[in-house]
Amino acid sequence: MILVTGGAGFIGANFILDWLAEEGEPVLNLDKLTYAGNRENLAGVADDPRYRFVHGDIGDAELVAGLLARHRPRAVINFAAESHVDRSIHGPAAFIETNVAGTSRLLEVVRDYWGGLPLTPGPSPVGRGEFRFLHISTDEVYGSLAPAEPPFTENHPYQPNSPYSASKAASDHLVRAWHHTYGLPVLTTNCSNNYGPYQFPEKLIPLVIHNALAGQPLPIYGDGLQVRDWLYVGDHCRAIRRVLQAGRVGEVYNVGGHNELTNLQVVEAICALLDELRPRADGRSYSAQMTHVPDRPGHDRRYAIDAGKIERELGWKPAESFATGIRKTVQWYLDHQGWVDNVTSGAYREWVDRNYQERA
Ligand code: NAD
Ligand code: DAU
Repeated sequence: MILVTGGAGFIGANFILDWLAEEGEPVLNLDKLTYAGNRENLAGVADDPRYRFVHGDIGDAELVAGLLARHRPRAVINFAAESHVDRSIHGPAAFIETNVAGTSRLLEVVRDYWGGLPLTPGPSPVGRGEFRFLHISTDEVYGSLAPAEPPFTENHPYQPNSPYSASKAASDHLVRAWHHTYGLPVLTTNCSNNYGPYQFPEKLIPLVIHNALAGQPLPIYGDGLQVRDWLYVGDHCRAIRRVLQAGRVGEVYNVGGHNELTNLQVVEAICALLDELRPRADGRSYSAQMTHVPDRPGHDRRYAIDAGKIERELGWKPAESFATGIRKTVQWYLDHQGWVDNVTSGAYREWVDRNYQERA
C-alpha cells in the first residue's frame, strides 16, 4: 500500500481517485483537514475497502511513526502543504510550520521506518530498495522568468520570491539532503499551475467561475499580463504515478502543460465558456465583470516549465490541451454547485473579505 499526505486537498484527492481507478493498490490518506482539506472530495471512495482516512498532521511524529509501523507502505507521497500564495503573504507562519518544519519531521520519521526495513522484501512486503518518498513540489521555487527566457529546467537556480515558494524551496532542499546524506530513496516533482475538479475557489480559475456565476467582480491583479503554464490535474496525477513507477532515485522531474497563458487570456476563456454554457440573463458577456485590482506584492511575472526530462526518460506527455481541460473544468463546476456552496460558506467569506477588501 501507499501513504498519501494531504490527500483531502485538490491535487491529492484527484490523485487518490485516479490511483484507485488505475492502480487499485490500497491507499492510506493522512490529512490535517485545514480549510483546504475536504473529505467530501473523496466521498466516492469513502466505503472502498482499499481506502482509509486518518485525520492528522505530517508533523506529528508519533502518529506518523505508528501509521508506518502498522501499515508498512512501500511509498509515501507528500502532497500536504499550505499552498496559496496570497495567504502566505498575509500569514507566512503556517507555511513555515507545515511546509518546512512538518516536512522535516515527516522525513525523519520516514527515514527511521525505511532504515528498519529489510534490505530485500523477503517475507516482508517491502524492502529498503523498493521504498520511495515522493515529494510534490512546484515550479514557483525557480522564481520568475523574463518574457524571452527559456522555460525552467531541473537545473534552473532556486530563486523563490513569496513566503509560499520559499517554504516549498526549503522543503525541496530538505528532501534532497535526506537523500544525499542518509540515502533515503526520494523523488521530487516540480509542477506548474494545476486546474480541474475540486480546486478550492481561492485559486484563480475556480474563483473566477464562482464569482462569475454569483454576479461578482472577476478580480485581475495588476495588468493581468502575468503568465502561468496551466496543466490539467489529471495529467499531473498521471505524471506522479509514472515518476513513482520508474523515476530514478534522487532525481527531480519538472512537470508542465506547454500551456503558457496570461491571466487575462485565462479569464477570457472562462467567460467565453460560461457565455456558451450558462449565458447571463441580461445577454451580456461575463467578461463585463472583469475588474482590475491592485497587484499581489512581489507578484512573479512568468512561469514556464521545460518538461523534456520526464517526456524523454519516462514517456509522459500531457493529454489535455488548455481548450479541452478548461471546458471539462468549467462543466464540472457547473455540475457541482453544491460542492462549491459547501466550501464557500463560513471561513471562506472571511478570507475573501480580507484579501479583496484590502485591495479595494
Ligand atoms: P491544497 O491546499 O488544495 O491541499 C493541501 C492539503 O494538505 C489539504 O487537504 C490540507 O488539509 C492538507 N494539509 C495541510 N497541512 C497539513 C499538515 N500539516 N498535515 C497533513 N495535511 C495537511 O493544495 P493542492 O493545490 O492540492 O497542492 C498539493 C501539493 O501540490 C502542495 O504541496 C503544493 O505545493 C503542490 N503543487 C500545487 C500546484 C497547484 O497548482 N495547485 C502546482 C504544483 C505543486
Ligand atoms: O505554479 C504552481 C503554483 O500555482 C502552485 O505551487 C500553487 O500552490 C498554486 O496556488 C498556484 O500559484 P499561483 O499564485 O500561480 O496561483 P493562483 O491561482 O493563486 O493565481 C494564478 C494567477 O492569477 C497569478 O498570477 C495571480 C492571479 N490572480 C489570482 C487570484 C486568486 C488574479 O489575478 N486574481 C485573483 O483573484
